[in-house]
Amino acid sequence: MNDLFKQQLNQLADGIAEAGYAIIDDFLSPEEVQNIQQLDGFKNGLLQFKKAGIGKSQEKQINEAIRGDYIQWIKPESAEPALKVYLSKLNELIAFVNQNLYLSLKDFEVHQTIYPIGTFYKRHLDQFKKEDHRKLSVICYLNSDWKESDGGQLRIYIGNETKDVLPLAGRLVCFRSDLLEHEVLPATRERLSITGWLLDQPHFI
Ligand code: OGA
Ligand code: MN
Repeated sequence: MNDLFKQQLNQLADGIAEAGYAIIDDFLSPEEVQNIQQLDGFKNGLLQFKKAGIGKSQEKQINEAIRGDYIQWIKPESAEPALKVYLSKLNELIAFVNQNLYLSLKDFEVHQTIYPIGTFYKRHLDQFKKEDHRKLSVICYLNSDWKESDGGQLRIYIGNETKDVLPLAGRLVCFRSDLLEHEVLPATRERLSITGWLLDQPHFI
C-alpha cells in the first residue's frame, strides 16, 4: 500500500469515527477516472443502464419525483479491469476500517450511476429498514472539470447543518448509511459516479 493511499484511509477512518462521514480527494487518479469514463457502460449510458427504483424487488416503484438516476450493477467477477482497480481499492478500504474502527464489514455492492441533466435524488437515508446490511455508503465521482455552477452537489444533513460536496473526478465520499440523510441536487451536466455500500454480510447476486 503506498503512502498516499494509507494516508487517505487514515483520513477516512478518522472522518467516519468523528463526524460520520469523510471526503477523500484523488481516491482515483485522473488516469483511473478516465479509464472508467471510457467504458462502454458509461458511453452508452442511458441506452444500457436501467432507471433506478426505490425499495426492493416487487415493491420497487420507479418514482421520478424522488430520484432520476440510471444505474447498472457491477458484477465484481466479470468487471472490466478499469472497474476492478476501484473494486480492489474498496476491498483494501474494508480491511482497513475493519481493523481501525472495529467494524465487521464483509462485502460490498456497487453500481455505475448516471444522473441525466436536471435529475436529482431527494433527501433520504440509505438504510431504510432496521434489517438493512448497508453500513457505510461509498460514492466515487467521475466528472472532470466540474464547477460549483454545474450544481449536482451531494448535500449531507448533519444535525441542523448541511455540507455540500461537489462530485469532482476522483473524489470519494463515505458516510454512515444508518445515520446521515442526504440528497443529490440537480445539475446542468450529466453526472457520473460509482455508488456503493459496504455490507456486514456477504452479498449474493
Ligand atoms: C444514492 C445517493 C449520492 C450521490 O445513490 O443513494 O444518495 O452523490 N447518491 O450520488
Ligand atoms: Mn443515498
